[in-house]
Amino acid sequence: MYLYNFFIRITLNKMTINEDYLINYSSGINKILSQSKIIPILVIDDLDDGLNICDALLKGGINVIEITLRTPNAFKISEQIIRKIPEINVGIGTVINKAQIIEAFSIGSHFAVSPGYNEEIIDLCLDELNNFPFLPGISCPSEIINCLNKNVQTMKCFPISSMGGVDFIKQMYSVFSKAKFCPTGGIDGDSYSSYIKLPNVLTVGGSFIVNKEIIKNKEWNSITENAKLFLKKAND
Ligand code: 3PG
Repeated sequence: MYLYNFFIRITLNKMTINEDYLINYSSGINKILSQSKIIPILVIDDLDDGLNICDALLKGGINVIEITLRTPNAFKISEQIIRKIPEINVGIGTVINKAQIIEAFSIGSHFAVSPGYNEEIIDLCLDELNNFPFLPGISCPSEIINCLNKNVQTMKCFPISSMGGVDFIKQMYSVFSKAKFCPTGGIDGDSYSSYIKLPNVLTVGGSFIVNKEIIKNKEWNSITENAKLFLKKAND
C-alpha cells in the first residue's frame, strides 16, 4: 500500500509543480505553515485521542499540526487522521532519516519536520520527492547558511530555549534577513507572544497547547479554548 501511494504521489506532484516551487523551494512549506500562527507538536498513542485532538484544534482555528515519531503507532495514527480529517495539515515530526521521509510522503502527510539539518534528507525532498514540503531543524548560523544555499529559507529553530531564545532569532534577522523560522523547544504559554511577534518568525511550535496532562484527562474543550487564546495573543 505504501509503495502504491508513493508512486501515485510522485506522479501527482510532478503534474502539479508550479513556478513558485522552481523559484523557491520553501514556498511549499511556507504555504502550509503560514496557515497557523501556532503548530501544536503532538505525541499521540491512540487514534481516538488523535481524532479528538484534531477536532478540538479545528474548532479553535488551528489547522496545522506536527505528529512526532515518538510513539510506536505514530505513522498508523497519522495516516488515519490524514484520511478521516482532510481539513487538517499533518506534518510528520522528529524525522531523522530518509526512510522516515519516504514513509511520511507515502502515507500522504502534508509535510515533514526534522529536529536537525541533514543534507541527504533535504536532497531527497527536493529531488526524488519533487519538492515534498520539509522543515529542517537548525541550531547555529552555519546550518542556516547550508539551508539558504539550498534555497531552503524556512527552518525550525530547535531547541530554541537552549539556543538563546528570542535573542537568537533577533540576531539572526540582522544577518540572514531572508530566513524564516519556526522556533520550538521549551516555549510555553508565557513566552509564546514574544516569539510570534518577531518579523522573521513564521509560526511557533510546541507541546504547550496539547500537553500530556490534557491528553491523559481527555480535556478536549480546553484544547479548543487554548487554541483560541493563543491565536488571539498572536494578533494582539
Ligand atoms: C519539538 O519536537 O520541537 C519539541 O519536542 C517541542 O518542544 P516542547 O515539548 O518543549 O514544546
